[in-house]
Formats: sequence, structure tokens, C-alpha cells
Amino acid sequence: MDYTKYKEILKQRLNEKRYIHSLAVADEAKRLAIKYYADSEKAYLAGLLHDITKNAPKQEQLQIFDRFGIMLDNVTKNSEKLWHAVSGAAYIENILKISDPEIISAVRYHTTAKQNMSKFEKILYLADFTSSDRDYPDVDVMRNLVDISLESAMEYALNYTINELRDKKAQIHLDTVLAYNEVVKKENN
Ligand SMILES: [Fe+2]
Ligand SMILES: [Fe+2]
Repeated sequence: MDYTKYKEILKQRLNEKRYIHSLAVADEAKRLAIKYYADSEKAYLAGLLHDITKNAPKQEQLQIFDRFGIMLDNVTKNSEKLWHAVSGAAYIENILKISDPEIISAVRYHTTAKQNMSKFEKILYLADFTSSDRDYPDVDVMRNLVDISLESAMEYALNYTINELRDKKAQIHLDTVLAYNEVVKKENN
């Protein structure tokens, strides 16, 4: 697949740091897709595009929600950090005309996660945690776990995210809670 067109669009829409991050997530998503027998070309594309509206001004994102009839729930409305997953999914579907539902859904849930994630959705979610440009206290633990199993890495990532949000006294999106409850439930069974 030729990704040149998408890289050009990203270069215009993203700052340098975010562009480099997008390339790194694409590489990591491809690596994980090969390791876990998913479609590696699709994973690379999802990685490239996942943050496409991350640097978009608030006004542009509000226009995207309005134009494509998207209603935000209250927690999403209150947390601008969550907006780019929703606006990004709408952007790639309606403006870039990406028709693959797996790519659209992986982008849509790459920040909150959700219940019943597909392997492909987990790969993008985790690639965002373990890409080469990432640097946070537990990144080495995450990189080890993601090579052991997607499930163990999801459990760690969801715990990490929920702890971080609680420490900041930030709201936790219901999709994240449901994703967390699902991995905990599996653990306890
Ligand atoms: Fe993101
Ligand atoms: Fe990202």
C-alpha cells in the first residue's frame, strides 16, 4: 500500500512531534499486527491516522461533530483530550473516505478503549502506549507485556490509565470503566 498521500496530509495537519509520534505508532501497530496475526498494512494505516485531528483547533473539531451529526456524551464533552478520537474517526471516514470499519473503530476507541475490543482495536490502543517515541514511567513494563500477550498489556494499560485519571481527579469515561471491568472479570474467573 502507498501511504504517501496520507503522510502528506498528516504533515499539514500535525505538529512535528505529533507527526513523528504517528509514524512511530504506525510502525509499532504493524509490528504487533505481524506478531499477533492481524492485517499489518491496515494496522500501519490506522497507526498513521489515529491522531489526525489531535492538533486541530477546538472550533474545527466542533464543526466536524456538527457536520457529521455527532452528539458527545457528557464526559467526552468535558474532556477535550477525548475529542480527537471522535473527530478523527469521523474525519477519516467522511473526509479521507476510509471505508474499512476496523480502522475507523480502532481510531474511534484509541483513547478510551471499550468493552469487547477486537484484536485490531487492541493493537492500535497498545501501539499508542508502546511506540518508540513514548516515554513515561512504566513504558518498559508495557513494552515487555505487549510482547507477552495483548490481554496482559490491556490489563496493565487500563489500570495505568484509570490510576492516572484518578490521581488527576479527572473524570473516567464509561467506555474505559467497562473495558477495565472486563479485564478484571476475566482475571477473577
Ligand atoms: Fe490519540
Ligand atoms: Fe497517539
